[in-house]
Amino acid sequence: MAALLKTSYPWIKLPLIVSAPMLNAATPALAASVSQAGGIGFLAGGTKPAELDNLLTKTTALFGAKSQHRRGSNQVLPIGVGFQNWGCDLDAMSPIFRKHCVAAIWLFAPKQLSDFSSWAREIRSASGGRTQVWIQVGTVLEALEVMRLARPDVLVVQGTDAGGHGLRQSASIISLLPETIDALKAAGYPNVPVLAAGGIVEARGVAAAHTLGAAGVVMGTRFLAADEAGIARGWQNEIIRVGDGGTSTKRSTLCDRLKETIGWPEHYDGRAITNKGHLDEDSGLSDAESVRLYKEELKNGDEAWGDHGRMVTYAGTGVGLIKVRKPAAQIVQETSNGALEILRRGAGVPDSKL
Ligand SMILES: Cc1cc2nc3c(=O)[nH]c(=O)nc-3n(C[C@H](O)[C@H](O)[C@H](O)COP(=O)(O)O)c2cc1C
Repeated sequence: MAALLKTSYPWIKLPLIVSAPMLNAATPALAASVSQAGGIGFLAGGTKPAELDNLLTKTTALFGAKSQHRRGSNQVLPIGVGFQNWGCDLDAMSPIFRKHCVAAIWLFAPKQLSDFSSWAREIRSASGGRTQVWIQVGTVLEALEVMRLARPDVLVVQGTDAGGHGLRQSASIISLLPETIDALKAAGYPNVPVLAAGGIVEARGVAAAHTLGAAGVVMGTRFLAADEAGIARGWQNEIIRVGDGGTSTKRSTLCDRLKETIGWPEHYDGRAITNKGHLDEDSGLSDAESVRLYKEELKNGDEAWGDHGRMVTYAGTGVGLIKVRKPAAQIVQETSNGALEILRRGAGVPDSKL
C-alpha cells in the first residue's frame, strides 16, 4: 500500500511521514518543509476561505513555479489541507479547491458521517480528480462507514493517544490499527492505504506502526516542537518539558469550554497537557469562573504556560519522548530513516546493507 502512495505522491520517501493539519500551528513553512523533506505537510483549512486562500498563496510561493516537488503529471501543490467538517461550509470552500489544486484534502469530525459524501464528491469534481480525499477516523465502525459513504483514497486511523481533538472513546493504535485493517479487508476494501496517528513521535513508533500494517504515519505533537510551528514559545517549552504523557496529558472538553468553542459534535474531546485549569475543574470550579481566569491568564504571555498556568496546551501521550525543538525537515528525515533502519534490522538485513 505504501507503493500506491508513492505513485500518487511521487516526491515522498518511505516510510511516509505526514504532518497533521493543526490550526495556526501548521504554518505554510511547516507544511512546505515537511513535503520538501519527503513527507506530506498539511495546512489546516479553518473556516474562512479568504484566510485559506492567503495561506495557500504563501505556500505556493515557498515551492516556486519550477520546483521539482511539483512533478508528476497532475502538477498539484505537494501539500494537503485538512478540514474539521462540523464547522465548515462546503459551498464557501469549494472555489478554493478549484483555485489551489492541492495533493490531498483531509476530512475529520463531521456533524454526521454522511456529510463526507458530498465533500468527497465536490473535492473530486472541483479538482478534476487531481486532489485525493483523505479521511481521519477513530473506530473500526467509522472506518467501514466512511469507506461505504465516501471511498476515501487514504484512511487515517487516529488512536486515543493523539494530541488535539479525537473521539472521546477509542483505542490506541496498537489494537485499533490491525483490527481496522482486518475489517477493511473482510468488507472488500483491501487496497486503501491506512495511516496511523496518535502517540507516534519518533522512529520506533513509526516502525511499530508499519509492523501493525500502516502504510505511513501522521504526527501532530512532534511537529509542535518544530522550528516552523506557529505556536507560542511557552506551549513549545511545555512539549519539551513534560514527561510521561499518560499522566501529564488528559482527554477532556475543558479546552473547548475555555476557548468558548461551540459546536464540536458531542462524541469528541481533546487531549492536552494538564495544568491548573484541569485541577480547578476537578475541584468543581464553574465554567464561568474558569473562562474568566483563563482570559486573565492570556495576558501573561509565555509566563502563563506550565503546571501553574491555564493555557490550552494540546499534546498527545508521546510528548514525553520529545526532548528538543528541531527543523521540520530534520524530524521527517530522522524518523523516516530511523524507522527504515529498525525495520531492516528486524527483517534480518545486515547492517552493511542498510
Ligand atoms: C494542536 C493540534 C491541533 C490539531 N488540529 C487538528 C485539526 O485541525 N484537524 C484534524 O483533523 N486533526 C487535528 N489534530 C489531530 C491530528 O490530526 C492527529 O490525529 C494527531 O496529532 C496525532 O497524534 P499525535 O499528536 O500524538 O501525533 C490536531 C492535533 C494537535 C496536537
